Amino acid sequence: MEIWFNPAQSLESILKKVAGTLEGFSEEFSPDVRASDPRFGDFQANGVLAEAKRMKKNPRELAQSFVAELEKSGELDSDLVSMSIAGPGFINFKFSPKFFGLWVAQYRDAENLKKSSGTLYAGKKVVIDYPSPNTAKQMHVGHLRILVIGEAIARLLQFCGADLVRDNHIGDWGTNFGILIFEIKRTGYVFPEDDSVALAELEELYKAGTAYVKDEEAHPGAFDEARLELVKLQQGDPENLEIWKRIVKVSNAACEKIYDLFGVHPDVTLGESFYRDKVDRIYKELCECQIAEEDEGALIVWNDSDPRYARTNENAAPFIVRKKDGGSNYASTDLATLLYRVEHFKADEVVYVTDDRQQDHFRMLFLTAKRWFDQKQYPFPSLRHVMFGKILGENGKPIKTKEGGSIKLKSLVDEATERAFAIVSEKNPDLPEEERKQIAGTIGIAAIRYADLLQNRTINYMFSWDRLLAFEGNTAPYLLYAAARILSIFRKAGTSFEAIAENNDVLLPTTDGEIALVRKLMGFSTAVQTACSELKPHYICTYLFELAGTFSSFYAADKVMDDDVNTRNLRLRLCANTYMILKTGLHLLGIETLNRM
Ligand code: ARG
Repeated sequence: MEIWFNPAQSLESILKKVAGTLEGFSEEFSPDVRASDPRFGDFQANGVLAEAKRMKKNPRELAQSFVAELEKSGELDSDLVSMSIAGPGFINFKFSPKFFGLWVAQYRDAENLKKSSGTLYAGKKVVIDYPSPNTAKQMHVGHLRILVIGEAIARLLQFCGADLVRDNHIGDWGTNFGILIFEIKRTGYVFPEDDSVALAELEELYKAGTAYVKDEEAHPGAFDEARLELVKLQQGDPENLEIWKRIVKVSNAACEKIYDLFGVHPDVTLGESFYRDKVDRIYKELCECQIAEEDEGALIVWNDSDPRYARTNENAAPFIVRKKDGGSNYASTDLATLLYRVEHFKADEVVYVTDDRQQDHFRMLFLTAKRWFDQKQYPFPSLRHVMFGKILGENGKPIKTKEGGSIKLKSLVDEATERAFAIVSEKNPDLPEEERKQIAGTIGIAAIRYADLLQNRTINYMFSWDRLLAFEGNTAPYLLYAAARILSIFRKAGTSFEAIAENNDVLLPTTDGEIALVRKLMGFSTAVQTACSELKPHYICTYLFELAGTFSSFYAADKVMDDDVNTRNLRLRLCANTYMILKTGLHLLGIETLNRM
């Protein structure tokens, strides 16, 4: 028998297989394996009960014959796992110390964890769309979640075996360029040498330009002029293209600094402008397939299969795939982008990370694309919109600066680092200043990330400095500290993580603390799997927090430096496995561990 990486999953498939050989079990039989109360065993299968009901049989008797068949099948080694029947027909599975010992020996290095986790997305080509900001604007706190959640999900997908393309679909072809170009020309704006100043200035120009053209009375016709600048740009006017290129360059340079800060590295940046010569095909095909229709000059799509977007719904708006003036829009570009991702990248799945205000857009996009791809017989990828809620300030309102402006990401990170520095200095006044700075840099950004990932992403969460930097509770500092503490245990024991990992002995856990810890370590696979199938990193946070807690109980109850060498080695091994899983899990969240804290 193999030492299953993910016992729940392996048991599930073995039980299904055995049920298949038994008369009367239905095709849909679900073994329903779940972690059980440790007093009874490690896992429990409840599915036989429902099956007995369906077959109108005595559940306990059915469970007995099922267990007999399992024993006969030879799938389970009685040395490693024992079975018993409880209550009306639950089947309990209990692992032996030998199974636990073999498990911690086998899954003790990060590579092996990754290999074993890489089944969910094995062989799948996935395009993930993030952070995809709009150009000509500085990145602010509103972009935090895209960076943090996008990166965690990208890492999870890769960890689960996906062949991943990070595609940064920047908004570099939108209507704002009309106003911006208009205002640049009107004011005779000259781009400064220093790109970092230019972006702030462009933002001001955009604000001023918008106010100018909207003041119809004072500046009649200005709005139309601005629109014309956009049309000229879209038609390839050389002067406007030059200005546009410069804006995009300035903007991308600034964004890249922020990406670096958050460890985000897109593989490709194919913004909206990349698709400008690819939208005509979309109009043509959608019309040919009779999916789109003309409406007062615009091209629109109704998706009747969903009442929310159906023609008959008075409150519904259609999916506008071409504007009245003939120009492309967000929808046309996204349709072209999807086709490109399938044709060029051969995507099996496309994951879009944006806030929840874009829900309708993506629903209509997916519905429209499905009809179009089916008619054209293009392979249709699985499409997922990973959306997230807002960040609220401590007053419960969307987070802003004192003056009511949007908080720049750079200043948020700076503040986190400063606050972390103060805390680290207080806790470790003896560490050299350089090291305290470096530790604070890691903790600051880790704390921001973790607080964001901790919540189920679909809900709003409240930003609180005190909470996110606390060393107790479910925070990044707490987990970083838990990991660093294990390294200090090794240092005190005169050994290291690497030295422990080299020991091949199979050592048997026996105390309650040891066994509880191994059980928790085994839960990593389920946490990763759930996080990856729902694309929700908070399952990893919850798991890591629980693991750190279980580790603390073990550490308090079982002295690591025991006189007995086997006991000592086993406990050091358990410390090492815990460290490795903490480190791997935090890495999935975009957080790197510290050697000292
Ligand atoms: N640029 C858009 C925005 O900032 C997000 C783009 C998301 N990706 C996409 N393919 N629509 O709102």
